[in-house]
Amino acid sequence: MSNQEKQNDVFGKLKEVLGAYGLFYIVILAMLVTLGYFYVKNIGYVTTMSKVPLEYDTIQPVSDLPLKKGTLSPPVDVKLFLNPSAEIISKGKSIYEMNCASCHGVNGLGDGEAGTMLNPKPRNLKDMTNWTNGNTIEGMYKTLQEGITANGMASYSNLPPEDRLSIISYIRTLSPDYPKLTDTDLQTLDAMYSLSKGSLMPNQIPVNMAMGKLIEEYGKVESKLDSVVQTISKDKDNPAAVMFRSMTNNLNKALTSLNNNSKWNENEAEFVNFIMKNPVQNGFKTESISMSQENMTLIFNYIRNLFGSMNLFKTPVTLTTASVKDSVSVSATVKDTTTKK
Ligand code: HEC
Repeated sequence: MSNQEKQNDVFGKLKEVLGAYGLFYIVILAMLVTLGYFYVKNIGYVTTMSKVPLEYDTIQPVSDLPLKKGTLSPPVDVKLFLNPSAEIISKGKSIYEMNCASCHGVNGLGDGEAGTMLNPKPRNLKDMTNWTNGNTIEGMYKTLQEGITANGMASYSNLPPEDRLSIISYIRTLSPDYPKLTDTDLQTLDAMYSLSKGSLMPNQIPVNMAMGKLIEEYGKVESKLDSVVQTISKDKDNPAAVMFRSMTNNLNKALTSLNNNSKWNENEAEFVNFIMKNPVQNGFKTESISMSQENMTLIFNYIRNLFGSMNLFKTPVTLTTASVKDSVSVSATVKDTTTKK
């Protein structure tokens, strides 16, 4: 081999290696670009999956509550729970799995999925330290009766007392460290909650029905607002209506925001205040601030009368527990119509 040939040979090898490396880098680059593309495309998914989302519907009992008017629950023989039978324990277990495992975990370790976002965490029912109401039968019964609502533990007063005692009996099997149960404990509990006489159960309304009622209520407010919009749009000869229309960018939006902030109803100054604060966001034109005071008075009175005549103001559109409670009081009427089928 001549020198020239040797040199060619070396260059040939070098080219081969570099060529391979070049290709190698191109492949790597292509992979990075592809990965990057998929990351960006799925970024919403990637970021929302980084935290376990709290799914509200897993907190609710598996099946919806039946509609029930408050009744006297049947008397409970508390003596049965001193040494609960296998039957009581297994009934307690299945009610526990249906109502409590979502937060307290299937094995009672407080590691249920619905409890991950709660602070404090749902109690580890195998750990006997730092209970709020206590791990005695009295403390546990109280917890189920009243809940510890500030901490995310709901009241289970809708469960019959016998079922509650069955769940407690089951929970007590999870650890040997629960305090020994005596006859006196059970008698005290009986006296406190008049279990052997039977106790009054609260009215109960299915969650779905309660939601339906809220939506219905919302619909009413919407249709009232609709008719206010109609009235103002049709009131061609009323200067207050004409001026109010000229003040708004979006009549519907303006009236909805007025309905959701009833404070303006107190006096004209509050009304002006409300419009001046965030005109555009609330559906008003920025220029509307420069309206003369005389005209503002006209408009204020006109709008206030309209809202008053429609009985608006009182119903800002939010889901409140108060409205759920209201709907419970009508459950008796609803029951009549459902059972007559
Ligand atoms: C939505 C989640 C959730 C569900 C469902 C739930 N719990 Fe709880 N529970 C909690 C939280 C949170 C605590 C902690 C409250 C505290 O430490 O004050 C708790 C605490 C408790 C305690 C301890 C109270 C104490 O004195 O410290 C008991 C007992 C209990 N729950 C039983 C039950 C039973 C029985 C059920 C089913 C019928 C149930 N829980 C369903 C969230 C839940």
